[in-house]
Amino acid sequence: MAAIRAMLAAETRAATAASYNVPDPCNHVQTKGDKVRFKITVVGAGNVGATLTQRLAERNYADIVLVDIVEGLPQGKALDLLQAGPILGHDSVVTGSNGYEETAASDVVLITSGVARKPGMSRDDLVMTNAKIVASVARQVAEHSPDAVIVVVSNPLDAMAQVAKAVSGFPRERVIGMAGVLDTARFRTFIAQELDASVVDVAAYVLGGHGDTMVPLTSLTTVAGVPVEQLISKERLDAIVQRARDGGAEIVGLLKTGSAYYAPSAAAAQMTDAILLDTHQVLPCAVYLEGEYGINGLYTGVPARLGAGGLLGVVEVALSDSDREALHRSASSVQQLVDIMDARREDIDASMPPLSAATTAG
Ligand code: NAI
Ligand code: 2OP
Repeated sequence: MAAIRAMLAAETRAATAASYNVPDPCNHVQTKGDKVRFKITVVGAGNVGATLTQRLAERNYADIVLVDIVEGLPQGKALDLLQAGPILGHDSVVTGSNGYEETAASDVVLITSGVARKPGMSRDDLVMTNAKIVASVARQVAEHSPDAVIVVVSNPLDAMAQVAKAVSGFPRERVIGMAGVLDTARFRTFIAQELDASVVDVAAYVLGGHGDTMVPLTSLTTVAGVPVEQLISKERLDAIVQRARDGGAEIVGLLKTGSAYYAPSAAAAQMTDAILLDTHQVLPCAVYLEGEYGINGLYTGVPARLGAGGLLGVVEVALSDSDREALHRSASSVQQLVDIMDARREDIDASMPPLSAATTAG
């Protein structure tokens, strides 16, 4: 009986993995003692956190703890997600909690807690409120899961990753920000729409900070291998770039009471796949740069190779002079937020080390 169960579970996992176009986790799970499933914590049971938990539970490779400060919210959503298991065929154990005891020894912790944008607000307007939240979360994560990889989602993204790294004391390999996958997905969507092409044929990178200064690299964007600049006029391409930059605000304007969460949760789940399944996939992520692209001591979006243990390396692609300038401009706007937080460090977390260890290079 046990053998049949194991065989069926393996088949289900393989089928689930195939449907998400990721490697079969059965071939990748590293056994640690008697542990045969990964453990993931998602902090923040709001729109992004709950949808992300659903996506991860359906992958069937990990047990998930969903944490929120609101009593009953993570417990209720976790129970609801757990009860979807028999219908969808996954055995992921989803637990809700208002504390961190249950999160101990997580492999990956995704931080989605914080306030989301409202119409008229920029991501930067959230900085001090979310910095306090992210600092307190990162401190508890570091205490309970000292070996975890932290994936930061809360906004303003690059600045919050800087806070999470400083407070957790983790090396840069284990604190990565999610934004580039989302921004790139938006850019790919609009290009595919323009050309009536399949989104999977559009390859692109959006670099820089997750804000109005993000840098879609049109010169490296291809559709079925053909440079996009040969397929779309400069004028139309400029309009698509701008729509991608405004992609988050466009959705905030439509929703009126919150911001996007379906695509953001898909992006964070893709990063989690790459880390836990050790795929070595290159994805645009916010990484603490140490000289790459001429930027030092600051989180900015760049192509990053992800695998077991988090960041395996930064991929340095050749940039045109104008793209390089745009990337540096974008990094400067992240630096401005870091400077604001440094000036009010006591208000965020009394024992947080200075965030501005270094400055962006020119
Ligand atoms: P939401 O308001 O639906 O959920 C946020 C949740 O965080 C709430 O349930 C709240 O109770 C919880 N929370 C607040 N303080 C907490 C604490 N100290 N500990 C644990 N939980 C806490 O917001 P939503 O839409 O889920 O967005 C979450 C964050 O993600 C926002 O900052 C948003 O701007 C950001 N975001 C970032 C994206 C990116 O590309 N990096 C994309 C989409 C959203
Ligand atoms: C987004 O880009 C709000 O950062 C969030 O949708």
